[in-house]
Amino acid sequence: MSLLSIEGVRKEYQVRGKRVVALESVDLDIREGEFVTIVGPSGCGKSTLLNLIVGLLRSSGGRIVFNGAAIDGICTQIGYVTQKDNLFPWRTLIENVEIALEIRGISRMSRRRQAEELIERVGLRGFEDHYPHELSGGMRQRANIIRTLIYDPELILMDEPFGPLDAQTRIVLQDELLKLWSTTKKTIIFITHDLIEAITLADRVVLMSSRPGRIKAVEQVNIARPRDVFKIHQSEQFRAVYENLWRELRPEVKLAEA
Ligand SMILES: Nc1ncnc2c1ncn2[C@@H]1O[C@H](COP(=O)(O)OP(=O)(O)OP(=O)(O)O)[C@@H](O)[C@H]1O
Ligand SMILES: [Mg+2]
Repeated sequence: MSLLSIEGVRKEYQVRGKRVVALESVDLDIREGEFVTIVGPSGCGKSTLLNLIVGLLRSSGGRIVFNGAAIDGICTQIGYVTQKDNLFPWRTLIENVEIALEIRGISRMSRRRQAEELIERVGLRGFEDHYPHELSGGMRQRANIIRTLIYDPELILMDEPFGPLDAQTRIVLQDELLKLWSTTKKTIIFITHDLIEAITLADRVVLMSSRPGRIKAVEQVNIARPRDVFKIHQSEQFRAVYENLWRELRPEVKLAEA
């Protein structure tokens, strides 16, 4: 059984009397433990799709089933790493990381221990007492990710989490994310505009058409794990997947620009 089923989902927005169809007939099944990436032109409805999955928005048609139950309102078993880090500027790094456990009433000692462990795993040790403005963009993104991992959601949605970072930092964070994922085996849906990143991380890459967003192609990535994110793009297998996806994506990007 799939962990998440998106069944015939449609979403339209009404903006000052004008109708914008963001998503049309989106069908997608996601297995437990799977790492799925989504690519598609700007404005094709990727963020809208994540907002529907987590229950922040309601669809205009179709349904989304998570763990056997239809999504109806915000689902707390789904973690959401948004594109912009939402760290609280008045809390230190460690206080930001442990916030979800604090809200759940976990004791201070226990939540500290869990936060420290994650901070260590993503190389932020020594920065526990720094405030967000005293951290680099890459450090803030790491904090943003582990503050979601700490409450152990079954499904994690990530909306271009490495978008604003430089190429080198992105690769380092991709490597860290794959290592975290290989030990936790959580299910991840990860949006990116970078085709190389999409293939590097994924079990399956989902490609969306320009608006109204539909699923245009789904490509299985059978490259063995653990993967070397620094070299993976040099392999023949990688190139074949890249070429297939780019052939499908190219006309969509042109349409979106027109
Ligand atoms: N709250 C909203 N109200 C009205 N229209 C919206 C709203 N959110 C998104 N839209 C519209 O829906 C469409 C899809 O937007 P969405 O943010 O989902 O795209 P996206 O694929 O995430 O784009 P990007 O890659 O630029 O982040 C766009 O045309 C956008 O203008
Ligand atoms: Mg978006």
